[in-house]
Amino acid sequence: MKGLILAGGYGTRLRPLTYTSAKQLVPVANKPVLFYGLEALAEAGIRDIGIVVGHTAQEIMEAVGDGSRWGVRVTYIPQDAPRGLAHAVLIAEEFMAGEPFVMYLGDNLVKDGIVPFVREFAQGGCNAQILLAHVPNPSQFGVAELGENGHVVRLEEKPANPKSDLALVGVYLFDHHVFEAVKAIKPSARGELEITDAIQYLVDAGYVVRPHIITGWWKDTGKVEDMLEANRIVLDGKERLVAGAVDGESRVEGKAVIEAGATVVRSVVRGPCIIGADAVVEDSFIGPYTAVGPRCRIVSCEVENSIVLEGSTLVQLPQRLEGCLIGKGVTVVRGNGRPQALRLVVGDHSRVEIP
Ligand code: DAU
Repeated sequence: MKGLILAGGYGTRLRPLTYTSAKQLVPVANKPVLFYGLEALAEAGIRDIGIVVGHTAQEIMEAVGDGSRWGVRVTYIPQDAPRGLAHAVLIAEEFMAGEPFVMYLGDNLVKDGIVPFVREFAQGGCNAQILLAHVPNPSQFGVAELGENGHVVRLEEKPANPKSDLALVGVYLFDHHVFEAVKAIKPSARGELEITDAIQYLVDAGYVVRPHIITGWWKDTGKVEDMLEANRIVLDGKERLVAGAVDGESRVEGKAVIEAGATVVRSVVRGPCIIGADAVVEDSFIGPYTAVGPRCRIVSCEVENSIVLEGSTLVQLPQRLEGCLIGKGVTVVRGNGRPQALRLVVGDHSRVEIP
């Protein structure tokens, strides 16, 4: 069985970070989301993985390389524009060479991995297997309607009036019949070849599409709130590890990870949280569910439930930062010039909330 990870697309809902970075490389607990997917496929015994890449191809290729870090072989499959998930399948036909495969959306996180699903599919008996989860907001996903016998009846992409609360999770298993489906369907109203339409084609053509309702935690990290939630869940699962330098005037509480090379001075660090390599935290409080990236500098600040990406500087902020997603190399400092005012240099589509 082969793997297909989708790492193209524009990531508009994570702007402005995605102006300069692929959304699949935004880190959760200091590790790019995409790497969790690669780990999940490797853990399921998949060794040959195609990664569909778009305009951020260069950056993804630099981060992932040939895949040897995960013990897998990676082949990059360029997509000229984000023409839909089914289009990504279409252009992967040659790479799959007739083998069944797992398709994994590069911005999805499935906490407990995908080993049982891959095993179940490999045992045979169906042409496609989809993972479903009960969600409170089905209109934001592909939605499946199951019949009384539990079979898939209908799939709809982001319906205004969803027929059920069963969302399609971004992990799909297919045999070669899916190529017949993606060739047969037409672009949707939003101009994309929808994977939901391709699966509907399989159902209507009498192929066996097996649904599997998952109960474990998963997340599509397409939006800021989702990134923060994913960060909380992943940090919660980490063990305490203090490899960096912590001075005698600091306190490290609970499941905190302080990576080698990080320095904590006169501060309180309360886990679950992570402080990346070569970061400096001085006279500060780093609260639960915070990920501080490598080489950040945080002085006289309080931060909790936030993600701060590598190389950013926060100095003497008068209020606690909460629920923030701060990009790479950002500087947020307290100014002492006159007049006293907010002085902002903020990129396009940023969002700043002040009390
Ligand atoms: O996360 C689960 C949901 O993912 C499903 O419930 C939906 O049925 C499915 O359509 C998808 O919805 P999204 O709106 O979240 O898809 P998104 O555009 O974010 O794309 C998912 C991933 O695939 C993302 O990593 C970008 C990549 N992608 C997307 C498109 C449209 C590509 O590589 N190429 C593409 O053409």
